[in-house]
Amino acid sequence: MHKTGSGYTRLGVNVDHVATVRQARAGRVPDPVEAAVLAELAGCDLITIHLREDRRHIQDRDLAILRRTVKTRLNLEMAATQEMVKIALDVKPDTVTLVPERREELTTEGGLEVAMNMDYLKKVIRLLNDADIRVSLFVDPDVDQVKASHRVGADAVEIHTGKYAEAKTRSEAETEYGKIVNAAKVAHKLKMEVVAGHGLDYKNVRAVVQIPEIVEVNIGHSIVARALMVGMERAVREMKKAMGGAI
Ligand code: PXP
Repeated sequence: MHKTGSGYTRLGVNVDHVATVRQARAGRVPDPVEAAVLAELAGCDLITIHLREDRRHIQDRDLAILRRTVKTRLNLEMAATQEMVKIALDVKPDTVTLVPERREELTTEGGLEVAMNMDYLKKVIRLLNDADIRVSLFVDPDVDQVKASHRVGADAVEIHTGKYAEAKTRSEAETEYGKIVNAAKVAHKLKMEVVAGHGLDYKNVRAVVQIPEIVEVNIGHSIVARALMVGMERAVREMKKAMGGAI
């Protein structure tokens, strides 16, 4: 599906880093559940969280409460491990985004290696689909990975925009942007939904939402950083404006 005629791109707000601040003191505040309520009041379209194996930010308690309180859509990012699949089947988020995970990384550094893990991913996707959970795969803007995502039965792909976001020169940014455009076109042709995320901020988001095949973006760090200064609702409204919508 292309975007609707109005060109609206859905905004997913990732509240992981609200939990990062809480975990700095292993305390009760700030609460990502409260942040999610405020993000929804400001008009976001879904809430995204990443339950990591090491529980460095989001906790099982957050996932359980968010499942009951999120009124838009809950998207759970997770590694395709047996532990996480069991949790997802139990909690039933609306969508799961499968991501690679390495303990020592600061954040999700690269896309999923789909082509090398086809049989396993096919099984995981089928299990989740059978529980009415739609599955998206977080992949680099690489046509082979997009095609492999289609072959394993993914409902959607989330294209990793990190290299585009971190490009040091204009020509590097243009090259990376071209890869995103290309990957989005291929995914759309294969009838998968196309999402984008990682490293998007108030400046670089506009070009990404202008790609017609991209119907959703997931943004965390830049919104939470801005929210520290101006509050969550305003930070989300400003992002919607940066994406081209009304504030
Ligand atoms: N999408 C995915 C799959 C991610 O892993 C992350 C980071 O958790 C994001 C989006 C959000 O990235 P950022 O925090 O850089 O906006």
